[in-house]
Amino acid sequence: MSITASPQAVRSFCITRSAKMVSRPKVVMAVRSNTISAASILTKLQKDCATPLPVLRHMADAMAHDMRAGLATDGGSDLKMILSYVDALPTGNEKGLFYALDLGGTNFRVLRVQLGGKEEGVISTEFEQVSIPPELMFGTSEELFDFIASGLAKFAQKEGGKFHLQQGRTRETGFTFSFPVKQTSIDSGILIKWTKGFAVSGTAGKDVVACLNEAMKRQELDMRVSALVNDAVGTLAGARYWDDDVMVAVILGTGTNACYVERMDAIPKLQGPSSKSGSTIVNTEWGSFSNGLPLTEFDREMDAESINPHEQIFEKTISGMYLGEIVRRVLLRMAEGAELFGHFVPEKLLMPFALRTPDICAMQQDMSKDLEEVGSILYDVIGVNSSTNLRKVVIDVCNTIAKRGGRLAGAGIVGILQKMEHDSKGLIFGKRTVVAMDGGLYEHYPQYRRYLQEAVSELLGPEISRNIVIEHSKDGSGIGAALLAATNSKYGHDF
Ligand code: BGC
Repeated sequence: MSITASPQAVRSFCITRSAKMVSRPKVVMAVRSNTISAASILTKLQKDCATPLPVLRHMADAMAHDMRAGLATDGGSDLKMILSYVDALPTGNEKGLFYALDLGGTNFRVLRVQLGGKEEGVISTEFEQVSIPPELMFGTSEELFDFIASGLAKFAQKEGGKFHLQQGRTRETGFTFSFPVKQTSIDSGILIKWTKGFAVSGTAGKDVVACLNEAMKRQELDMRVSALVNDAVGTLAGARYWDDDVMVAVILGTGTNACYVERMDAIPKLQGPSSKSGSTIVNTEWGSFSNGLPLTEFDREMDAESINPHEQIFEKTISGMYLGEIVRRVLLRMAEGAELFGHFVPEKLLMPFALRTPDICAMQQDMSKDLEEVGSILYDVIGVNSSTNLRKVVIDVCNTIAKRGGRLAGAGIVGILQKMEHDSKGLIFGKRTVVAMDGGLYEHYPQYRRYLQEAVSELLGPEISRNIVIEHSKDGSGIGAALLAATNSKYGHDF
């Protein structure tokens, strides 16, 4: 299997920085008061973020409860429980050339795969990844879709080698669109709202496949979208191709989401006939869960100042877009109220999102005695020189936020499994069940991953935990979307 990536590809999640702490840091603004100490701010933060077993249990139960309410009626709970129209998962028999297009965060990816059925499996894969220019995240729908379609067209032109389109066929693509969409069929869906910092005008309320089709037409690209899928759904389909025990998929990246295999007769809001398989994938959109989360004043302030206040509260507590920002807000409070960096507040610390989750992750990987890497990141990002003690405080703050995020994500997974177990009476906990995980946060943040796994094991106990396999399914969503394009090909299942 060959995998190629474009040169702009993959900005590493964990960054390293040079230790160039020479010039004087730039600082502004005198601190307001120093009546409290950094230690007391930290202690309060740790208390407010604590996730002991009863809190986790309450959260897992609330997740299961909200899932049921969302399945009962549209709008019945914070969880949208969106029907994916994916009623048949890949079997391994799929054959031919298929594309996938993945839009979900600051990058978009295009991929092609040549499938060779049961005998040959995945013959070859090629992908490219391109960053989305930040201005397009706030531009018009047309600008964004034109940019994507033009990337796809350029990629399609380079097709060759091991990739062959069967004669007389139009190229088909899966479209992974990782935002809340009300699906109207396997190849159409209306955007409910943007998340993850996107605020593109003119797309909400529209069919995103139609937007892409129009843009492809403008690019004179002859390609058909045969499956519209969320990234969590794509991950489940991709992971299921290799492993029949995959029942749940979770994305922990810039944003977060989870989906799972549900029995159709357990979905009261479902109208119309049941599929042949009797089951379907439900996209929970768990990012908007909010019930019983341990939140702090920093979370509330960040939410109030966000472009989507009161929305995506679980996402804002556990996902990669926000963890660094929460840490920045805590450090700012320590700088203003407890002179953490001396008599002044560093100018750069005032800038929202200046500290990113890859920064806090990189700081937590520093095992040196003097925390030199932490020092150089603080210098590069915030513009301050720091003592070892100060660096330790920063690490404690990062750890508190990562620990809460990881443990709550773990409790969310248990909530889903609990609901499935209850309905299937023993078919989940009593046998090997796989949860496929993807996303940069999960992939690159070892402490976060460990906290997640610990919470799952604490909640389920040692015996059941042995049956629950939480597994990284790297880039499964791209292949998954291509596989679903194959499963839903207009040329049918003549494989
Ligand atoms: C979106 C989901 C998506 C998740 C992970 C969330 O912000 O609402 O649709 O699956 O991010 O990319």
